[in-house]
Amino acid sequence: MSSHATPIPMTARASGPLKGVAEVPGDKSISHRALILGALSVGETRVTGLLEGQDVLDTAAAMRAFGATVTRHGPGEWTVQGVGVGGFAEPDHVIDCGNSGTGVRLIMGAMATTPVTATFTGDASLNKRPMGRVTDPLALFGTQAVGRRGGRLPMTVVGAPDPVPVRYTLPMPSAQVKSAVLLAGLNAPGQTVVIEPEATRDHTERMLRGFGAQVDVQDTPEGRVITLTGRPELTGQSVAVPRDPSSAAFPVCAALIVPGSDILVPGVSRNPTRDGLYVTLLEMGADITFENEREEGGEPVADLRVRYSPDLQGVETPAHRAASMIDEFPVLSVVAAVARGTTVMRGVKELRVKESDRIDAMARGLEACGVRIDEDEDTLIVHGMDRVPGGATCESRLDHRIAMSFLVLGLVTARAVSVDDGGPIATSFPAFEPLMAGLGAPIQRANA
Ligand code: S3P
Repeated sequence: MSSHATPIPMTARASGPLKGVAEVPGDKSISHRALILGALSVGETRVTGLLEGQDVLDTAAAMRAFGATVTRHGPGEWTVQGVGVGGFAEPDHVIDCGNSGTGVRLIMGAMATTPVTATFTGDASLNKRPMGRVTDPLALFGTQAVGRRGGRLPMTVVGAPDPVPVRYTLPMPSAQVKSAVLLAGLNAPGQTVVIEPEATRDHTERMLRGFGAQVDVQDTPEGRVITLTGRPELTGQSVAVPRDPSSAAFPVCAALIVPGSDILVPGVSRNPTRDGLYVTLLEMGADITFENEREEGGEPVADLRVRYSPDLQGVETPAHRAASMIDEFPVLSVVAAVARGTTVMRGVKELRVKESDRIDAMARGLEACGVRIDEDEDTLIVHGMDRVPGGATCESRLDHRIAMSFLVLGLVTARAVSVDDGGPIATSFPAFEPLMAGLGAPIQRANA
């Protein structure tokens, strides 16, 4: 669905200690992929722990439009009856991916080598984001795409009737682009090769293997070379979605900075391609322990025990770590604002083309709250301070992670922090407000 109509202003105030268990939702990246690969398989896929955020619901609706049968049986429990590789039907209406770059880019890849035509659109945020990064490599398969100026949605994609396999080196670290090429490669004959100079999240490769595709990965001096053998028969699977480390980041960071806090966040994915925030927080001096480490649904998971950490120090995050924490820089910049010294985040220019320009959104909001910021195209620098004044209303810019980050900040500022619209939080973390309330965090809607 496109953007919600009425903004939902929210306010966070200085909080007492956060205590209890934070059951964060299923992983967004894995949820999208489970639905899409289920739709491309023969037989039934059963998913448990699916994130029921709007982004994933939009992908479910899209898979129905391409001919799969997608059914909800209970909270997080879904089945998909797939149509098989190359079996997508032509949708008879425009596919609205709402706020989700992952949804639209992966679905474009999934349909790109099947002879169907589909038109994609999204909300005001998604319709500003670049799609050329996906349609350029898809053109190598023989796929055509016509969108608005600058490769923006709405866009019509014409699947290649006679696709050829592709060898493609990613020009930017993007799991969405990598995944779009691999999904397109499924219905091309022969081997499709993607080379990623910097490793990005590897859920597509893991899950493709789980559904029966042959995917070889080699680490070479050029980077990770991923080779997919086309035209496999994918077979429906059971997928247990682990909890989302990017959503866990919000209660985790809140507990680290709110005095006296002690929380448990169970069952969070510890996939190394998603782990950069946790590596960084430990370097800053965070008190986080990883308990009960185990494997669930093909992903490493752990229970996170997080305690208030009064001596957090600013750090420098190296450019090579950026891809493994790309969605966590907004909330890291909040932790950095209350840490001792300066935090320098390098190699972060991809943040400029997310749901919002996240460097600009965080910089302007933090400055409005009294924090000193420096930035350039590819770097964000936050100067920590003892007590952040707050007292501002920050723009969330149709970006769930910006909204949640400023609400976490408001739990420790001298004066309350508001966001103009908390509505976008529902795209990835629909239970954010009750979950934070359950820990004792005073976050309220303006008129509540
Ligand atoms: C995602 C990849 C990342 C990330 C996004 C989810 C995915 O985007 O920011 O939230 O599931 O593949 P990019 O591919 O643009 O880096």
